[in-house]
Amino acid sequence: MAEQRPVALVTGGAVRVGAAISRRLHADGFDVALHYRRSRRPAEELAAELNDVRADSAFLVAGDLAATGGPQTIAAGFLDRGTTCDLLVNNASSFFPTAVDDADDAAWDELFGSNLRGPFFLIQTLLPALQAGQGAIVNLVDIHAERPLAGYPVYSMAKAGLVMLTRSLARELAPLIRVNGVAPGAILWPEDPDDAWGREQEAILKRVPLGRTGTPEDIADAVLYLARAPYVTGQILAVDGGRSVVI
Ligand SMILES: NC(=O)c1ccc[n+]([C@@H]2O[C@H](COP(=O)([O-])OP(=O)(O)OC[C@H]3O[C@@H](n4cnc5c(N)ncnc54)[C@H](OP(=O)(O)O)[C@@H]3O)[C@@H](O)[C@H]2O)c1
Repeated sequence: MAEQRPVALVTGGAVRVGAAISRRLHADGFDVALHYRRSRRPAEELAAELNDVRADSAFLVAGDLAATGGPQTIAAGFLDRGTTCDLLVNNASSFFPTAVDDADDAAWDELFGSNLRGPFFLIQTLLPALQAGQGAIVNLVDIHAERPLAGYPVYSMAKAGLVMLTRSLARELAPLIRVNGVAPGAILWPEDPDDAWGREQEAILKRVPLGRTGTPEDIADAVLYLARAPYVTGQILAVDGGRSVVI
């Protein structure tokens, strides 16, 4: 009988950093469930690319993490395949500024839904499949979970919650399931930066000891390390060119 390959679910796994994570895990032997919300076309293209390398090794799961019942829909799409969940990468995230005086319920719900509530209920719903696979969870947090990003208080709060989710569930889910996080620094700028963000880029790079942005592959390598590290749980690994020792 053919050996069962480990299966990873990567949320937001079709584009940008998520796509690099999906490709890296796939190259390391994981079958990959590519979750998307709006990026259906890139998800289909990446699945075709991975399935060309290894037949039947990538499939799609759709859903909105911030919607009521969204995480459960995503989990159901994954569980339909009837596999264990050997790795869950909570990568999907909304990111936009929220001035304190005009942040509204919709912004709060989207930022907390995608970055904190969604990952929690996805884990909850996938728990039996994660336990069956003695799986691992890797959460994409942010160095700004520790030190807030100016203009982004709700995002920073949501990521701080995701750090606590990581540490807390590392206790709750041990010894079967390990839970860790990767905290990227400046890797990819937002695709539709406003003017202020554009001006900020130069200032940010001045505070990075290694003097440059990182790459999505740097993040993917860190995720793979934590996926495979049998005695590491509850940790947040900063991949930020040293920026977190400066700011
Ligand atoms: N890029 C950086 O330099 C950087 C820095 C620090 C931290 N990070 C963290 O690293 C991770 C990846 O970064 P990135 O820049 O590649 O992310 P991104 O492009 O901003 O977002 C990744 C994906 O998240 C999905 N998403 C957003 N809201 C969602 C929702 N409500 N439900 C379901 N999916 C949703 C989107 O999927 P669809 O396109 O399918 O809608 C999007 O493509 C994120 O967690 C981010 O916070 C990145």
